[in-house]
Amino acid sequence: MHSGPDKTVFLCGFMGSGKSSLAKTLAKALEREYLDLDEYIEQAEKKSITALFESLGETTFRELEQRHLLNLLEDPSAKIVALGGGTVCFFDNLVRIKKKGLLVYLKLPAAALVQRLSASPQERPLLKGLSAADLKSRVENLLEQRRSYYEQAHLVVDVLHSKPETILNALRQLL
Ligand code: S3P
Repeated sequence: MHSGPDKTVFLCGFMGSGKSSLAKTLAKALEREYLDLDEYIEQAEKKSITALFESLGETTFRELEQRHLLNLLEDPSAKIVALGGGTVCFFDNLVRIKKKGLLVYLKLPAAALVQRLSASPQERPLLKGLSAADLKSRVENLLEQRRSYYEQAHLVVDVLHSKPETILNALRQLL
């Protein structure tokens, strides 16, 4: 892992785990720039993630996502980056991210994710148009597929039982 005060912190975890919101809080506390990979892609491509998913399909979206991730990894300034929910699960993204900075997994059980996602107004192409029962099984299946990637993070945070201050203290020990 790249070390020193210029180390970027990357937040990974399932959709709805609170990556963007925690990234903003951490960025403020650590006086770092905040960046959201989805927003970075949307700005560069001038299209929403939903529109990109629809026009490209998931396979090509993942290639595009990696291209933008690699650009971002070239930037030497230390940031707090909220990744997309699938970013660390494709190609060699996980290894590349872990080499460049500190990877944090925001861990939540499937039931809590389902609850948060059902209440979220945000458009999510992978969960679009699902009934409550289908949402539950989609989240459970996807989380099962992704768990082994997420768990390789440098720091695993139990979101339901950790306050932002606790996470911040754990991070400070590692930065
Ligand atoms: C995805 C999560 C989304 C976005 C895209 C794919 C995923 O980001 O990158 O819709 O594969 O889990 P959020 O986790 O910020 O919703």
